Amino acid sequence: MTENNFIPKPYTNAIEKGAFTWSSPSNIALVKYWGKKKNQIPENPSISFTLNNCKTTTTLSFSKKADKDAFSFDVYLDGEKKESFKSKIETFFNRVEVYLPFLKAYHFKIETSNTFPHSSGIASSASGMSALALCLMSVEEALTGGSVIPRAVEESQAETYFIQKASFLARLGSGSACRSLEGDLVVWGQHESIEGSSDLFGVKFPHQVHKAFKNYQDTILLVDKGEKVVSSTVGHNLMHGHPFAQERFKQADKNLKTITEILKSGDLDAFIALVESEALTLHAMMMTSMPYFILMKPNTLEIINKIWSFRAETGSKVCFTLDAGANVHVLYPQNEAETVRTFIETELADYCQNRQFIHDAVGFGACQLINNN
Ligand code: DP6
Repeated sequence: MTENNFIPKPYTNAIEKGAFTWSSPSNIALVKYWGKKKNQIPENPSISFTLNNCKTTTTLSFSKKADKDAFSFDVYLDGEKKESFKSKIETFFNRVEVYLPFLKAYHFKIETSNTFPHSSGIASSASGMSALALCLMSVEEALTGGSVIPRAVEESQAETYFIQKASFLARLGSGSACRSLEGDLVVWGQHESIEGSSDLFGVKFPHQVHKAFKNYQDTILLVDKGEKVVSSTVGHNLMHGHPFAQERFKQADKNLKTITEILKSGDLDAFIALVESEALTLHAMMMTSMPYFILMKPNTLEIINKIWSFRAETGSKVCFTLDAGANVHVLYPQNEAETVRTFIETELADYCQNRQFIHDAVGFGACQLINNN
């Protein structure tokens, strides 16, 4: 597959207006994507659990306009117009226009809402960009009369083409978004041990997964709900010329191979060691960038220490991971749900802003909702 496979054949249907709605989840990386090349190509492969409860629902309404000179769209979050979202979407439209040649022919109304509280510090770019990409694919499907598959694509690949292209488009909006369309584990980035893996889009983890990882739990502790001091995009760019970058990319490559074996064997101790090391390595990269920065807060470290003590005292298999922020994702097997949730409520909630946390679990990806019009 190359980028060119995602350039569509000429559209056959003339459509004046319509609307599509998709709901798409967030995801949490186990092996982290940190560092990218031109055109949102990752420096290393990553793998994530798709989440179930933290989701964005987006309705994309479109109506034909007279000119085809420029993009025209409005964005709403929970019914309120959001001018501040426009530049990110404009950048996204510019990147994907060649793959979606209808973009300048319509005016779009993008109405979006999240299940998680906004400004909770939970990144909405993965769920938001994947939901928008899926809505755009539904428009394309309508324009091609139900089949979006260009002639160049083999019959055998036809079934997955819709999702693959949606993932390809989502990646151009925000890298990690390409891992949100399916579940329960998705790999993004070319890797020798993952058949079909690609730098261009996410693919479902193709290997056997031990039952210990079924319905794995993730409670997100909202440690700091403020704006991040450094955005992910800036952070990724600081990996260019970073003194440890090449070793880090090699390590992520190796960790993806190792986690493939762990997911098969169900070795939870090995899982904990790999996942926590990945989280701390991500933040170590931030702390050793130039300029350097720290996204963890004192309470992030308090929580990590509490998790380590709890594990030492009880033999629990609970562990943590972090994304690019201060919040902590607490990961644990389903059979420990009751005890770990009690631990969270009694010992960790005090370190969260307004004692807020969100119980989530591994999910299976995006779904289309029926529109009434
Ligand atoms: C730390 O996908 O938010 O969450 O591609 O610039 O939009 P952009 O970055 P983004 O980076 C997220 C990185 C991470 C790790 C991960 O999800 O793999």
